[in-house]
Amino acid sequence: MKLDSHFWSNKYKLHQTGWDIGYASPPIISYFDQLDNKDIKILIPGCGNAHEAVFLFEKGFKNIYILDFVKETLNKFQEKQPNFPKSQILYGDFFSLHDQFDIIIEQTFFCALLPDQRKAYVSRMKSLLKPSGKLIGLLFDTYFEKSGPPFGGNKKEYIALFSPLFKIKTLEKCYNSIPPRMDTELFFIFEGN
Ligand SMILES: C[S@@+](CC[C@H](N)C(=O)[O-])C[C@H]1O[C@@H](n2cnc3c(N)ncnc32)[C@H](O)[C@@H]1O
Repeated sequence: MKLDSHFWSNKYKLHQTGWDIGYASPPIISYFDQLDNKDIKILIPGCGNAHEAVFLFEKGFKNIYILDFVKETLNKFQEKQPNFPKSQILYGDFFSLHDQFDIIIEQTFFCALLPDQRKAYVSRMKSLLKPSGKLIGLLFDTYFEKSGPPFGGNKKEYIALFSPLFKIKTLEKCYNSIPPRMDTELFFIFEGN
């Protein structure tokens, strides 16, 4: 199976976007609620409709970059958010991005990749973070009956995958998941080591 930009573009065209919760993910918002420094440089890769970016931008986090390789979804975002800087809307492949951020947000991007891309995801994330930067967000703590995407996983697998390059600061059952995902997500904070 090839999960390229055509695959995802087609999903958006057919409105097969079951991953899109329609608003900013509560656990991610709670995390940002406890941060005072609004100048931090943030990346949301595989952003789709980027609801978290809209919310955080309105909260005063102006240094947010969003990235996706489906142009139409970024165009739609730009139309709806004319105040969001165009230079912070990145069109391209995550695996070709070169920059450094303080925080990278994970929200249904990891699970959208083929499992054999996971090691490459981990090392690209490491290289996209500043030395004390953090990768934060949600990972599924379940397996799906239908063949993916989404592709599931569990805590043990994630520890084995991330711990060579990251300090596992938090990786816990998420207490404030949206109701349909309750008990199936882990909230995590990984810091480059
Ligand atoms: C399951 S969707 C999640 C979208 C968004 N994070 C959300 O929760 O609504 C996965 C997104 O990742 C994007 N994507 C997948 N692989 C990508 C890659 N290699 N580079 C950039 N974007 C990618 C897809 O186009 C799609 O928008």
